[in-house]
Amino acid sequence: MIGRLNHVAIAVPDLDAACATYSGALGASVSAPEDLPEHGVTVVFVELPNTKIELLYPLGESSPIAAFLEKNPSGGMHHVCYEVDDILAARDRLKAEGARVLGDGEPKIGAHGKPVLFLHPKDFAGTLVELEQA
Ligand code: CO
Repeated sequence: MIGRLNHVAIAVPDLDAACATYSGALGASVSAPEDLPEHGVTVVFVELPNTKIELLYPLGESSPIAAFLEKNPSGGMHHVCYEVDDILAARDRLKAEGARVLGDGEPKIGAHGKPVLFLHPKDFAGTLVELEQA
């Protein structure tokens, strides 16, 4: 059912430093930072030939990234995002398989302007999984 790896998201405690690492030492193409208040993050996209890396930095008081960075002060892998053709069909299938969908279970518009859902890490080998309708 899942398709391409759309991106891997990495939470970072210092966005400027992370951008400098990816554009400098790693020689990647790095976007300008973008604030996404409805998701509580500032995001930078790193374009790779076969996928993207999203650098996530907390934005606002109740950012979901803030608690993650408290537990992982040097940053760390936050989630992986897989593409699906039909997000509602994917959600219904996963729920029928016993997987837990986070939030109210309804897709939200994600960082790329497309519908996304998040799945409970305990159901996916300890990894937060995002589904994006491609
Ligand atoms: Co994501």
